[in-house]
Amino acid sequence: MELAPTLKSQTVQNRVREVGINPNYWYPVAWADRLKPGQVIPVVVWQQAIAVYRDQDGLLHALEDACPHKGVALHKGEVHSTNLVCPYHGWQFNGDGTCVSIPYLPKEQKLPCAEARSYPVQEKYNIIWIFPGQQNLADSIQPPHVPEYDNPDWLAVPIPAHFQAHFSICNENTMDVFHGFLHKNLQGWFDPLLINLRSTEASVLAEYRVSYQGWLTKFLGLSDKGNQVTTRTISITYEYPHYRSSLEGISAIYLMRLPIGLTETKSFSMFFLKVRLPKWLLKRIKPQLSKFIWRFLFKKFLDQDVEMIESEQRTYLANPQRRYVEINPAIIALQRVIVGQYEKFMQQSRNLSNGDNPQVKKSSHVTGAIATE
Ligand code: FES
Ligand SMILES: [Fe+2]
Repeated sequence: MELAPTLKSQTVQNRVREVGINPNYWYPVAWADRLKPGQVIPVVVWQQAIAVYRDQDGLLHALEDACPHKGVALHKGEVHSTNLVCPYHGWQFNGDGTCVSIPYLPKEQKLPCAEARSYPVQEKYNIIWIFPGQQNLADSIQPPHVPEYDNPDWLAVPIPAHFQAHFSICNENTMDVFHGFLHKNLQGWFDPLLINLRSTEASVLAEYRVSYQGWLTKFLGLSDKGNQVTTRTISITYEYPHYRSSLEGISAIYLMRLPIGLTETKSFSMFFLKVRLPKWLLKRIKPQLSKFIWRFLFKKFLDQDVEMIESEQRTYLANPQRRYVEINPAIIALQRVIVGQYEKFMQQSRNLSNGDNPQVKKSSHVTGAIATE
């Protein structure tokens, strides 16, 4: 659906700050190369604690991080071959979460029926992804498509981020190109103009015209002279629950979002850039260059964003009744998608009479539309 890109005052309904996720999507939980065979790590996907381990064959498994015996955190255990062993009494669970051994149970005795929930897990783009929703939907849905990942012409810069804020606040920061003001000392973009806006039940596409001037202009290859003003179009697509954004064939960024809880969110993002260096040289220095760009460019932008995002969250918590005014229709469209996806999932859960879904219990007070004029 086409939406008018006109800036217009609208009141934000604060319940967007309290909604849960639609879990029927793939969520990123860790960088894949950091988890070696035989290692196990704890992760949280929207209030669900999960132990992710890589077995000795290199395969990934994800189990509910609570032993079915007495609830001890399984991520404190050890990996034996393809199984995860609980640290308390040594019960062993296979990748499906089934108890396959109890060290002190006489061999002739049958194992009890004890099972930890297992989650669909996969690795793609050096990210470990978990599907926390209905298992039977996992195969029909995929993580976002990132065509630049395998293309040697692009330099990939991984960007980790951790926010003490609800995912809606983080997502609004990405959609909100008007906050170039914040980054003015870094010579970011200026004179933003929203030119196109489209939305569906699960996505928002916004196109902005923005201007650049200064060292960033030169660095991104927008102009040979840093003192020239260059105007370009940025396309930002929020495809629930992740983002991709591109600057006219010059750069692309993918923001993979991990909502952890009501006031905590992580991102596993990748920035792709075409660097004007000979291929042989680029190949040789890619890892160092990527770290350098992260440290001296993105971290500075990100630190400024984190400060704003967390400030917004703290003020909201201090007074959840306070009303805020938004004038960017792209933000209102984004909020509608976030709340709409959550309500869609809640409705599906009610239809399935899925009374044991933790989200249904924890967030069932949140319903209704989110913005009024
Ligand atoms: S609590 Fe895990 S084996 Fe006993
Ligand atoms: Fe920013």
